[in-house]
Amino acid sequence: MTEDLSPVDRAKFAAARRAADLVEDGMRVGLGTGSTAAWLVRCLGEAVAGGKRIRGVPTSRRTAELAREVGLEVVTLDEARWLDLTIDGADEFDADFNLIKGGGGALLHEKIVATASDRMVVIADAGKEVGTLGAFALPVEVIPFGWQTTRALVEETLAGLDVLGRDITIRMNGEAPFVTDEGNHVLDLHLRRIGAPHRLAMALNQLPGVVENGLFLDICDTVVVGHGDGRAELRDLDPGGVQEDRFEIAEPANLFRDLDD
Ligand code: 5RP
Repeated sequence: MTEDLSPVDRAKFAAARRAADLVEDGMRVGLGTGSTAAWLVRCLGEAVAGGKRIRGVPTSRRTAELAREVGLEVVTLDEARWLDLTIDGADEFDADFNLIKGGGGALLHEKIVATASDRMVVIADAGKEVGTLGAFALPVEVIPFGWQTTRALVEETLAGLDVLGRDITIRMNGEAPFVTDEGNHVLDLHLRRIGAPHRLAMALNQLPGVVENGLFLDICDTVVVGHGDGRAELRDLDPGGVQEDRFEIAEPANLFRDLDD
């Protein structure tokens, strides 16, 4: 039950639970990757058990596996073509709902899926909110061929940009570089502060060897922020500014009965 969860997990669950209510019968939904997105998938499994028809496009193999496990209809992006909604976690979000994503290594599929959606909703615990992006290392997906040269090019590029740190590490999985679902590697850029995210995103994506970066700029429309006491606030970015509504989670019925994280 939710009392057994840590405050952060309770916050993630609250955000996911609130966001699941945005999914209507018949929708095609992009399913994010990570621990918060996993809660969402479980909540959607409940909705399907309750009679909703939801077609989900997962952003990673592990999300696809969980989605099938909880009874969602899993389709590819090519089958769905365009999505009503994508719901995903984030590593950081700012006041304009610009994001750093890719902590789970799925940023490429996540960006493609979010961009192919009428609406992107981010679900996050309150600790992910920042004034300026960059405390979380920025993930950049690079092709394995010549990745050390690509890393040097990225380093050179950073010299002309408004960032505080310039350390770059290759993400590891044990002794070997981490491999994404597309067979690529991930460089983590320890920038500490990103002063001009649009400029940085453009500069990175122009380098040969870089496939995509983890800055999601002007893509997210709504953030659902979960809190450790079980509250969730939905913030919408629209011409009128940020709208908030508050929500208390009720006991989550069957969610904890059969599933381990
Ligand atoms: C995966 C992501 C995740 O959404 C991000 O890392 C947040 O993860 P979590 O919900 O586990 O905190 O971008 O590539």
